[in-house]
Amino acid sequence: MLAGRRRDNQEGRRRNARTIWRVSRILTAVAWPYANGPRHLGHVSGFGVPSDVFSRYMRMAGHDVLMVSGTDEHGTPILVQAEREGVSPRELADRYNRVIVEDLHSLGLSYDLFTRTTTRNHYAVVQEIFRTLHRNGYLVARTTMGAVSPSTGRTLPDRYIEGTCPICGYEAARGDQCDNCGNQLDPTDLGAPRSRINGETPRFVETEHFFLDLPALADALGSWLQTRSDWRPNVLRFSLNLLEDLRPRAMTRDIDWGVPVPLPGWQEDPNKRLYVWFDAVIGYLSASVEWARRSGDPDAWRAWWCDPDARSYYFMGKDNITFHSQIWPAELLGYDGRGAHGGTPGPYGQLQLPTEVVSSEFLTMEGRKFSSSRGVAIHVRDVLDRYDADALRYFIAVAGPESQDTDFTWAEFVRRTNDELVAGWGNLVNRTVSLVAKNVGSVPEPGTFIDADAALLDATKTAFATVGDLIERHRQKAAVQEAMRVVGEANTYLSHQAPWKLRADDPERMRTVLHVAVQAVDDCKTLLAPFLPHSAEEVHQLLGRRGAAAPGPRVEEVADLDGGPAYPVITGDYAATPAWASEPVVPGTPLAPPTPVFRKLDPSVVDEELARLEQRAAE
Ligand code: MF3
Ligand code: ZN
Repeated sequence: MLAGRRRDNQEGRRRNARTIWRVSRILTAVAWPYANGPRHLGHVSGFGVPSDVFSRYMRMAGHDVLMVSGTDEHGTPILVQAEREGVSPRELADRYNRVIVEDLHSLGLSYDLFTRTTTRNHYAVVQEIFRTLHRNGYLVARTTMGAVSPSTGRTLPDRYIEGTCPICGYEAARGDQCDNCGNQLDPTDLGAPRSRINGETPRFVETEHFFLDLPALADALGSWLQTRSDWRPNVLRFSLNLLEDLRPRAMTRDIDWGVPVPLPGWQEDPNKRLYVWFDAVIGYLSASVEWARRSGDPDAWRAWWCDPDARSYYFMGKDNITFHSQIWPAELLGYDGRGAHGGTPGPYGQLQLPTEVVSSEFLTMEGRKFSSSRGVAIHVRDVLDRYDADALRYFIAVAGPESQDTDFTWAEFVRRTNDELVAGWGNLVNRTVSLVAKNVGSVPEPGTFIDADAALLDATKTAFATVGDLIERHRQKAAVQEAMRVVGEANTYLSHQAPWKLRADDPERMRTVLHVAVQAVDDCKTLLAPFLPHSAEEVHQLLGRRGAAAPGPRVEEVADLDGGPAYPVITGDYAATPAWASEPVVPGTPLAPPTPVFRKLDPSVVDEELARLEQRAAE
């Protein structure tokens, strides 16, 4: 069973909240990666690490966070890769669900539950949402033309049809979406359609599907979006633009892999399944329900979904915006009965819409020289096998694709690690702990503070407000830079005060300086904990502190709650998360023997890694 942490921790949270601000329920909803391969750096830079930084910070600030995600295991992305690897879709999903769980766990992503879309619980929740949407009149059956391959007789998935976009004229638009103008399309919209598999012209045959009646939800969607003025401007603009062209969208497919359509006559049909995006976005809800069921209080999820004061933040890459600012809110509004057809909520009650859709831009790797379309990308696993998780997390925080497309290069990774992480933060920790070990042995008792002491302590204290505010406003790059600026101030302080020169003539002043330095290191550790949880824990130990600095996730093998096969989940008990505040260090506390926290990288790493990529590309 997952930890029933809520109640145990109420007291601590209330205490934290009093010193900071009101406790809120915060749902961190992280985009679900397709279980069709290991994760590469793009996946974790855009939303994996940022959603974790946000969640860790919000917990420290005293909020009650529920962070959920899982692997997205249906649809053509899975079918196509299964065919390539010569396995069944289920085998493929099992394989990569496990790989992805390992990848995300090694990065320290602190999910309350990272599950998958092939659980029985997920199927039940998805079917429930479908039934209520249908009952409320927002899912309507229609006969349309579906594409079939003339040579194989099999249905041709939308994304495997290419043609001219009817909106912008782009010639390589896909049947589901135009990558040039971003609009969603139907294959029949395309001019000169052709199969991307073998170039043949698809045959269109009659087929029946359920359509989500987006026009009936347009007003409700529009009014809701009007209230979202604090989103990142490009995300809001894009979402508002989508309202210009709202047409009914098919929510079922002619394929045999996915959630069955829960209606008589459809349920039994092995070749009709729900559209993967219809079910995937419901994962946020089904994972919350699963978490609650596992925690021993099956209704616990409601606090994050039914209470209008709860806040929800959805983290994703920009290619997912449509599904989170239009399709998912439309499903919720239809479920709630808040569109033009009216209606009433189903058994889950009235569900809340996203507070914010937090979308990142794209990460390229080594200037697109090695693109993932050629099957070459830098995998999380390969990076973590050779480098520390916090080095990667630092790079992502300070140089990730937060608000513009960004390139990952090994040269920049080595430079940031050596010049900033090791020479800045690592050096501050090392100098301080070594000086104390050599000259005092435990946290020194301070004498009277002079202005320079007070100024540094003031800077670290003030940073809690500024860094916290930046994280809360999804400006993590600025936040980590601000924390590192304070690290720089502390390094300058040590150099100026030069406590190593005071030992003989003014030991009391030396002890005061070292006391202030230890306090500053401890504060910086807390300020950096959302970004660098693993090293925060090490620094915490070095300073001889008790308890945890940054509780992390664990992988657990669980039984399916409703009799399906067992699977691994990421979960964790984050109750011991410390408060987002300066915690006074205690004179006399013995410090641990100094050991370096970060590893300096040899410049030869760059050539080695580039050669590895070349080799991959040649395979
Ligand atoms: N699997 C999708 C992708 O990789 C993301 C799904 S997000 C979800 O683009 F919420 F819908 F699951
Ligand atoms: Zn277009």
